[in-house]
Amino acid sequence: MSKILIIGACGQIGSELTYRLREIYGDANVVASDISYSNLDIVNSGAFEILDAKDYNAVKICVEKYNIDTVYLMAAMLSATGEKYPMRAWDLNMNSLFHILNLAKDGFIKKIFWPSSIAVFGPTTPTENTPQHTIMEPTTVYGITKQVGERWCDYYFKQYGVDVRSIRYPGIISWKTMPGGGTTDYAVEIYHKAITDGHYECFLSEHTKLPMMFMDDAINATVSIMQAPSETISIRSAYNLAAISFTPEEIANAITAHIPEFKITYKPDFRQQIADSWPKSIDDALARKDWSWDHKFDLKQMTEEMLSQLQKKYASSEKVS
Ligand code: SER
Repeated sequence: MSKILIIGACGQIGSELTYRLREIYGDANVVASDISYSNLDIVNSGAFEILDAKDYNAVKICVEKYNIDTVYLMAAMLSATGEKYPMRAWDLNMNSLFHILNLAKDGFIKKIFWPSSIAVFGPTTPTENTPQHTIMEPTTVYGITKQVGERWCDYYFKQYGVDVRSIRYPGIISWKTMPGGGTTDYAVEIYHKAITDGHYECFLSEHTKLPMMFMDDAINATVSIMQAPSETISIRSAYNLAAISFTPEEIANAITAHIPEFKITYKPDFRQQIADSWPKSIDDALARKDWSWDHKFDLKQMTEEMLSQLQKKYASSEKVS
């Protein structure tokens, strides 16, 4: 049985990945870690370690303590925060990856999942149905770290046989844990505000189309690529991955179908420029072919699920307070 370490387990994707991996592999085989106790549900849900992903020795000690063979490296500084702290984003996003790649190269671990992003693309990339192999000139620090990271993953696989697997996540939408510091975060905030305020002021303009995905699909993709036999993984940088694409206006309309009085207004800020540099839709044929990726949630189904789960969540927190 493999022993798994999740780094960045308190974050938006890391938290749901922790729950799912514990369901599949058992609580005793999945260790969660993060730099702080920022998600008490995760901290209290099983084995948890405080871990700075930038600290090679600390990561190595944790790997040895629990006999870890598989690492999911989910810690990263995302696009919007990365523009405010470029060197900190570079330091965290690159060094954490090198530490894990080197632990695998030196035989301490066997398998790595490291997420890439649609942020690897830039304004010179074809925007519709963006191919797997295409022009990549990212303009954000986050995008640069993910693109360089992809090259290093491919290099460590080819030079040292490191079994590293990656997908280019689009914007991920979920109701359990809030995202932090991303350009696609509006698509989560909008559901919360629809319920709590009946109004959302969007930091992107109404026709900004971006690739997005519901969390359940993102977790399924992550589990599938990690469970796939090694020989089926033909891409060792990162796979394009797609589900749905929509604009703020379209998501607002999907919400209005359930909450007719909901209103959206637009006040684009610096994140507009980031969004404008990214693709509108992604060609993920290779992921579908190599490891049978398929998404389940469209905009309508996702909206139903988001609103009903968040309505329950807010209703139960009202009862407590
Ligand atoms: N969700 C990320 C961001 O907005 C993109 O991968 O930065």
